[in-house]
Formats: sequence, C-alpha cells, structure tokens
Amino acid sequence: MKVLVTGGSGFIGSHVVDKLRDKGFEVRIYDMVLPSIRKDIEFYQGSILDLESLGMAMMGVDAVYHLAAIADVKDVFERPHYAESINVRGTINVLEAARTHQNVKRVVYASTTWVYSDTIETNVDETTPLRPPSHLYTATKLTSEYYCQAYSKLYGMNVTIMRYGIPYGPRARGAAVVPIFVSKALKGEPLTIAGDGLQFRKFVYVEDLAEGNVLALKSIAKNKIYNLDGKEKVSIKQIAETVKKIIGNVKIEYIPARPGDFSGKEVSSELAKKELGWEPKVSFEEGVRRYINWYKKVEQEKEAEWARLDNTLRTQL
Ligand SMILES: NC(=O)c1ccc[n+]([C@@H]2O[C@H](COP(=O)([O-])OP(=O)(O)OC[C@H]3O[C@@H](n4cnc5c(N)ncnc54)[C@H](O)[C@@H]3O)[C@@H](O)[C@H]2O)c1
Repeated sequence: MKVLVTGGSGFIGSHVVDKLRDKGFEVRIYDMVLPSIRKDIEFYQGSILDLESLGMAMMGVDAVYHLAAIADVKDVFERPHYAESINVRGTINVLEAARTHQNVKRVVYASTTWVYSDTIETNVDETTPLRPPSHLYTATKLTSEYYCQAYSKLYGMNVTIMRYGIPYGPRARGAAVVPIFVSKALKGEPLTIAGDGLQFRKFVYVEDLAEGNVLALKSIAKNKIYNLDGKEKVSIKQIAETVKKIIGNVKIEYIPARPGDFSGKEVSSELAKKELGWEPKVSFEEGVRRYINWYKKVEQEKEAEWARLDNTLRTQL
C-alpha cells in the first residue's frame, strides 16, 4: 500500500512516516521543507496551497495522511490570515486532490483535542457537543474536520479524524514545556513554575501517536473520529521533577500563578482502545528520558559540526 504524508517532514509527521515504514507501507512525503531525518524516502516538495502539485503527489497513492499545518498556536495568533490559508484552504485542497484521484481510499486528518477547550463538560469524548472555539487555531482545525465530514457525506470519501493530545518526544519543537525544561536544566538554569504547579496535563508520547495513526487505516475507522490522548495525568511540578530526576542537580523555582491558566480537560481515548486496539505504551518518565537522549545527541552533533567548520576556517585563513 502506498501512502502520502503531508507535513511528513514535521515533528509528528516524521514519526508517522517512520511507523508506516516499519509496518511495511510505501511512503511518500509532501512538504515544503526537506525531511531532516530521512534521506532515503520519496519526497515531493510543494505547498498544500498548490492543488496541481498536490494532485501529482497523489498519483498512485492509496491513502493520505494530512498533517501539514501551522501547528503552533502562537504562530496562528501572530499570522491568522496566513494560518487560515494553510490550515483551512490547505485541507480542502488535500480533500479535493484526493477526490479527483479515485485510487485514494482514505484520508486521515490530524486534528487536536483543543476542539474540547470550550466545552462545558470537563470529561469529554468524541460524542461531547462542541462549542464555538475561542482560539483561531482551534477554529481552523474544526473547520477542516467539518470539510472532511462534508466530503465524506457529499462525495462518499472515506475519512478518519484523529484528535491528538499534547505530543512530546524526539524532534519536538523547542517552545513546549518539556523541551523548555530540558533545555534549561541542561544549561544549568532553574526551572520556573507558575503557581503551585499542580495543574495537570496529559501528554502523549509521539511514537504512540504515530502508532495510533497507522491503526487509523483499519476498516472500522472509516468516517469516524478518535481521540488519541496520553494515559497519565502529569502536573507541571511532576514534569520539573522528572527532568530533575533524569538530569540531576536542577533547581526548581516557584513564581506567582498567572491568571487564566488553562485547566485541563479529561479526554477519553476509550474508543480508540476499543475499536483500534490503541493504547499509549510509553510512560511519561521513559518518554522524557528518550527525549533527553535525543536532545543531547543533537546538541553533540551541532557542536561537532561547529568544531569541524571552525577547523576548516582555521586551515583556510
Ligand atoms: N504539536 C502539537 O501540539 C499538535 C497537537 C495536536 C494536533 N497537531 C496537529 O498535528 C499536525 C502536525 O503537527 P506538528 O506538531 O508535527 O507540526 P510541525 O510544524 O512540526 O509540522 C508541520 C509540517 O507541515 C509543513 N507545512 C506547513 N505549511 C505547509 C504547506 N503550505 N505545504 C506543505 N507543507 C507545509 C511544515 O513544513 C512541517 O513540516 C498538525 O496538523 C497539527 O495541527 C499538533
């Protein structure tokens, strides 16, 4: 089976690519930027705003994973008009290209548990009624979900919507809480916690998320929505303590709470467990350990590269 992954050069997309390859799928990436990890992969460079180029990338493809997006909520806040074009028009382009390629039997869409941010209920699952979102990022992701559902109803396209929890792990962007704490700890800087640090989040290890994406191709998942969230509740204090436990000799500082800090929703992933047989396997501590090992390796490689460049310059001058 041949699969196209839009956004396959990104954080989550690159792990989806790895997992699909492990399971024996033929994979092609469609992204604006080159994959930094894999060189041995079929890669189409282009934007999801380019319908013609997307169509060419879908030639001979059986399923499409659509992950390309402006995924950082801060970027969406700063560039709402641009983010809307990628996250909304980009999605309809992917759906439209898939519609005109009869060989595409499934589109899997990468959504987010942020769609529950404004619900009245605190315990939520895929049947919980959603409310108009307060954030533009969520609005773009929800619009895309609706487009997927409309394409399914109007054109008989098989779509599967996966709502991811907060991912962490190797190749994560630097702006999230785990990467910030790890980078500070390794630089010998204190970890700062606003308030008592007892506010919890659930985090999902990125390879577990990738596994859930592969399972989304199961027949039962046609035209369904699944939450893929972590199992453990982890407080900010626990994150800091886990990082301290692994790295050692780290100071944790407390500052006054910020008003309006998000209080987490309890997102159920029971449906994914029941129908797809998906459960997160990697514990938070193990996931952080793997992230730290990856981070250290990347830092060492960067230092070695600088040293090599320095040497080259010295010999040339
Ligand atoms: N990271 C999270 O916290 C999170 C949580 C829930 C859902 N998601 C969703 O998962 C998906 C992947 O997120 P991520 O964290 O891996 O993001 P990422 O930024 O690491 O990856 C996104 C990829 O999309 C590509 N891209 C952006 N614009 C493009 C365009 N016009 N054409 C082609 N490619 C383009 C980027 O080059 C990048 O490789 C997104 O749809 C995001 O909304 C992310």
